[in-house]
Amino acid sequence: MSDYKTIKDLDLAGKKVLVRLDLNVPIKEGKVKDTTRIDAPLETIKYIMENKGKAILMSHLGRPEGQKNPDFTLKPVAEKLSEKLGKAVKLAPDCVGAETEAVVDAMNDGDVVLLENLRFHAGEQENEAIFVAGLAKLSDVYINDAFGTAHRAHASTYGLPLTLAKEKKPIAAGFLMDKELSIWKPIVEGTGKSVAVIGGAKLKEKIKAVKKFSKTFDRIILGGVVANVFMNAAGFKIGSSKCEEKGKDYCKEANDIISGAVKEKIIFPTQAVLATADFKKEAVINPKEGIEEGHIIADVLPTEEDMAAIKEAERIVWFGPMGAYEFNFKEGTQAIVKAIGETKGYAVIGGGDLAAAAEGVDAKVSTGGGASIQYITSGKLDALEALKTT
Ligand code: 3PG
Repeated sequence: MSDYKTIKDLDLAGKKVLVRLDLNVPIKEGKVKDTTRIDAPLETIKYIMENKGKAILMSHLGRPEGQKNPDFTLKPVAEKLSEKLGKAVKLAPDCVGAETEAVVDAMNDGDVVLLENLRFHAGEQENEAIFVAGLAKLSDVYINDAFGTAHRAHASTYGLPLTLAKEKKPIAAGFLMDKELSIWKPIVEGTGKSVAVIGGAKLKEKIKAVKKFSKTFDRIILGGVVANVFMNAAGFKIGSSKCEEKGKDYCKEANDIISGAVKEKIIFPTQAVLATADFKKEAVINPKEGIEEGHIIADVLPTEEDMAAIKEAERIVWFGPMGAYEFNFKEGTQAIVKAIGETKGYAVIGGGDLAAAAEGVDAKVSTGGGASIQYITSGKLDALEALKTT
């Protein structure tokens, strides 16, 4: 028995079912570039439709910082949802207010409406009471199916379910949330040998992840831009390799992590693909030898020892590619896929960006990046705690 209700426990017929989803998908020139986060909660949306509820979907998209900004409209997502559901999904003009309430009031049972980006209001991230009250007006029943945002104590993920629970309105997890939590359970609750592979960019979250994993996991294999930051912090010359994000340099944090951790746990690359700054492959080198300006580390290749550690581990988690996958530097990432394919342990790949690379491998894939990292390393998620209140 779980300590929260799921959508199956609730009566949805004729009800306004307000559903928090994580539809934070990549969009380019007004088109959705990857539908993983749209596909993942379809089961929940279809269940509401079949059970004659009114599905009112809400999500954030990007970080518009509390301002209405057409670059961050959910319009392309509403179009993609209409296509996937075979039914028109209307995009409401906003997520709170009289006009939006009118759109919701006009819904028939089985209809689907998508509210406009929650983060067009600062009240969402600030968990503001007035904003929570505006959302509460749209809800007879609340479902959270946004595992990817479950680490945020925002209005739609935290304040709203707490408020609704106080009003004795039903709140529950959707199918995706429930599935994601069970995917991570053996990692969170297990005690066997553990390996974390941490690559890619998204430095703010990933550097924090290395810190947390260095306290709870046995081995942390670094790749991608994350590896560059740690090598730079350790004093290696990394040439023109990327090692900062939005002008923020994470060297100090990386240095503190290195000095606070058991040294052998954090594995620096010893084989890397050297390329020119415009991604032309040159050679495989040991990056500790130093890299000149104008050159970059385009891929990190795991060693035999890394591969063996993955194969022998009982718990394996992986976030982010080992190299510039989008520029065809795939060797390091594919080597990790191979090791995971051969492990006898339980492996979970976090974040949709690796799903395609790992296709066909017997590993679970989670849609959550930051949320997964927080859940594995602390066992807690704010949105989940809110769901446990009924
Ligand atoms: C994510 O992409 O990790 C989630 O949608 C959360 O987005 P955020 O980091 O902007 O809160």
